Amino acid sequence: MCGIVGYIGKREAYPIILEGLKRLEYRGYDSAGIALYDGNSIQLSKTKGKVVDLENRVNNEIETTGSLGIGHTRWATHGVPNDINSHPHYSNSGDLVIIHNGIIENYASIKKELIKRGYTFSSETDTEVLINLIEDVKKNEQVKLGKAVQIALNQVVGAYAIAVFDKNKPDEIVVAKLGSPLAIGVGENEFFIASDATPFLEYTKKAIYLEDEEMAIVRLKKGVKIRKIKNDALVDPYIQELQLNLEQIVKGGYEHFMLKEIHEQPNAIKDTYRGRLNANKGQVRMAGIDDNLEKFLNANRIIVIACGTSWHAGLVSEYIFEDLARIPVEVEYASEFRYRNPVITENDVVIAISQSGETADTLAAIKLAKSKGAFVFGVCNVVGSSIARETHAGAYTHAGPEIGVASTKAFTTQITVLTLIALKLAKEKGTLSHSEFHLHLQELELIPDKVQKALQSDAHIKVVAETYKDAKNCLYLGRGFNFPVALEGALKLKEISYIHAEGYPAAEMKHGPIALIDEQMPVFVIATKKGHYDKVVSNIQEIKSRKGKIIGIVTEGDTEVKNLADHVIEVPETLELLTPLLTTIPLQLLSYHIAVMLDKNVDQPRNLAKSVTVE
Ligand code: AGP
Repeated sequence: MCGIVGYIGKREAYPIILEGLKRLEYRGYDSAGIALYDGNSIQLSKTKGKVVDLENRVNNEIETTGSLGIGHTRWATHGVPNDINSHPHYSNSGDLVIIHNGIIENYASIKKELIKRGYTFSSETDTEVLINLIEDVKKNEQVKLGKAVQIALNQVVGAYAIAVFDKNKPDEIVVAKLGSPLAIGVGENEFFIASDATPFLEYTKKAIYLEDEEMAIVRLKKGVKIRKIKNDALVDPYIQELQLNLEQIVKGGYEHFMLKEIHEQPNAIKDTYRGRLNANKGQVRMAGIDDNLEKFLNANRIIVIACGTSWHAGLVSEYIFEDLARIPVEVEYASEFRYRNPVITENDVVIAISQSGETADTLAAIKLAKSKGAFVFGVCNVVGSSIARETHAGAYTHAGPEIGVASTKAFTTQITVLTLIALKLAKEKGTLSHSEFHLHLQELELIPDKVQKALQSDAHIKVVAETYKDAKNCLYLGRGFNFPVALEGALKLKEISYIHAEGYPAAEMKHGPIALIDEQMPVFVIATKKGHYDKVVSNIQEIKSRKGKIIGIVTEGDTEVKNLADHVIEVPETLELLTPLLTTIPLQLLSYHIAVMLDKNVDQPRNLAKSVTVE
């Protein structure tokens, strides 16, 4: 996610755009930039770092006059955070400038064609390719900017919210949307462009939210003209009167970032497999894997190193890698691995998982593994983070910034990346048949909709939370692929509600924890239809016979557990190895609602930090 802001109207654009970028920093904050039209030329300044760094740089670098401008705060997806890769980007002629939130999947092939036509590129970004495609169309088709944008966007695949202007036509801004949000603030003789309404709420409460595959030409004198990108059909602008306040909008209308991020998971998973998974073609393409395939295929074993929630995602991947690709996997707490003098050889592949990319223990474990000759692959959510830079190769989760300390969308997007890797390796090794491979790809593509369906149980989950919010101890049980989900569910509850909770393999209960079972002990049991369902049902019966309270996470339509448990929460059916992507959803919501009912600081729980950069 990035933040985009634009202004055209009666006021000075600079202060509006700068303040607007500050309000959008929650959407991305690794670099920022601004382009202003000063009445004669484009004044552009951009920098790695936060908006405050841009502010310090702008004042020494450019004229900040003018009533037309665009600004951007970046969450890098292509190209590490640095000045050159920051937005806005010029076209080769210097006449056009663009800001972009999203991912152009086919940017490489477009770039290759543009280079053949003599275009040059200074950045690694997909965005600079897009602005030069627009320029190329404008020149060759001899059309205005709006038409050029429309023709160009019909050639790209991916997601975008863009704003573009031409210094030779400074009375308009052209915007377009697919997959990323874009709002147009409608004022008196002025218009605002932004990823959400926070940058313009104090100037106007009138907003037009573009729909997917819509574009608009925003002209000072003629107003907003909206068209369908595909067929040029005119669309009547629907102007909403906003009721939300500033804080509500930053959180997307949710009370907390954690809840917003839980609900972002369908899109986050889709963004993570976008451009990598093509079920129709039966393809998984990941540059970091493709370029190092032999290392993975010849690996003696895979060692996964991580902490916390990322470690739980790693544990899920152990089950997936071994089940699909038949490669031995060991999952290590980075904090233990780095000190226990582990046996590591150059035949080992290490996968380091980290949302922040800054966790000190994980970083240290990576350096140790590298020093012993292992190939280290990173799965991070922050482009250009220390871990992303320290590893030999990697694959990013495209979850967007995760602000809530309790990790949610990072967990499901990490599992998505790891599943893609396991599927690719299984196909290459022939340990998965062609039809099985296809089946898994097709089912993975359905997961975002199934996560969306699981989220719809929120009201019911709230009722369950109300029932158990005063528990002093809770037990979470799962088997197979869902054992790590039990651990993750317990961590979620612990870290935001401060209720003690433990996760266990369901069968392990009889080796001790069953002594804890009584009427005061809620037991959350993941009992999806796939896997060792009958065994889990037996565990549930053991709990019931000891008067334990049972909350079953079950496959929709389940009746057997429903007749045994005190509550059930349903998730859609899917392949067994994909169930963690669904069963974790109710456990995230459950911990969230309990913490809110207990009036805890959900986004910033006591004693915790979003990134543990110390040992
Ligand atoms: C999970 O909810 C916690 N915030 C914590 O366990 C976190 O997963 C852990 O600190 C690892 O962080 P990382 O993924 O950024 O490396």
